[in-house]
Amino acid sequence: MNTLLLHCRPGFEGEVCAEISDQAARLGVAGYAKAKPNSAHAEFTCLEPGGAERLMQGQRFNRLIFPRQWARGDYLQLPETDRISVLLQALASYPVCGSLWLEVFDTNDGKELSNFCKKFEGPLRKALEKAGRLVEDASKPRLLLTFKSGREVFLGMAEADNQAPWPMGIPRLKFPREAPSRSTLKLEEAWHFFIPREQWDARLSDEMTGVDLGAAPGGWTYQLVRRGMLVTAIDNGPMAESLMDTGLVTHLMVDGFTWKPKQPVDWMVCDIVEKPARTAAMVEEWIGGGHCREAVVNLKLPMKQRYAEVCKLLQRLQDAFAERRIKVAIACKQLYHDREEVTCHLRRL
Ligand SMILES: C[S@@+](CC[C@H](N)C(=O)[O-])C[C@H]1O[C@@H](n2cnc3c(N)ncnc32)[C@H](O)[C@@H]1O
Repeated sequence: MNTLLLHCRPGFEGEVCAEISDQAARLGVAGYAKAKPNSAHAEFTCLEPGGAERLMQGQRFNRLIFPRQWARGDYLQLPETDRISVLLQALASYPVCGSLWLEVFDTNDGKELSNFCKKFEGPLRKALEKAGRLVEDASKPRLLLTFKSGREVFLGMAEADNQAPWPMGIPRLKFPREAPSRSTLKLEEAWHFFIPREQWDARLSDEMTGVDLGAAPGGWTYQLVRRGMLVTAIDNGPMAESLMDTGLVTHLMVDGFTWKPKQPVDWMVCDIVEKPARTAAMVEEWIGGGHCREAVVNLKLPMKQRYAEVCKLLQRLQDAFAERRIKVAIACKQLYHDREEVTCHLRRL
């Protein structure tokens, strides 16, 4: 059980390899990362016993930027019939698990396999429960079976409180029909990921104010309005009439990189397509200058060294806040709804 399997957005396997290798080096876990391009996953093979477990213990999953899900374990070949017996036999060397997720990679092959998983899950769950390998208990590790095909599965596990919050790291969010653009799901996912649900009423309250930079046509503004906030939407482009009709939105046709509010606001969100260094400098000014308390900004990553670029910018932000002597919690994740980009959340403490 000494391989760490990491799911990701197809095309970001190199970023995952670089990131997990960095973290393994930090923790002194010997091993090597490998991945096939566009396979939507990478593997980190640990060279010493217990290495994968130590790596997971020393790293919070939520702090990883590019991986969508992770599990430690091994690959297992499956026969065409009676897969369950072979799985039960292999699981004899695994601890008893408290929950079960069947997963696939985010590729076309994976999508085809998800039908098989749906059919297989019920009988497998029953057999595991009957054999005492699965008992409902949130404090026990989760069994994560990632099917590569009907004949090969990664038999993995992860602590339920240190892994993706959703199977395969994919939240099932329903596109709200009234929202003016699909981008709306990016901000909604960001809130689900970065803000614990029990804090939503306090941190996303209808007594708050928000600014949306690069707002048109209004997918992100829609999310702020849905929480009852008064929003200033900055964009030269037109905002959806339905949002303007709410009376909660003021639309200003000015430059989002130079405009600042006269009074501090609670939230600033920004989805402008711009060089990530410029966006990072802008959010540093907003939070550092006290113009907002929390921010969600999208960093676009068209360059080659995407992991290195994100690390550099996060470090720059940390240094800048340290210099200003202010405490800011910074988190960054490539969310499921992100494409060639990552989402950063900043909160002044
Ligand atoms: C990706 S779109 C935003 C989509 C929006 N978040 C939504 O959910 O509907 C980027 C927007 O940024 C705007 N934009 C680009 N440069 C800008 C700038 N300097 N100031 C303000 N808006 C800008 C563009 O006009 C465009 O509407």
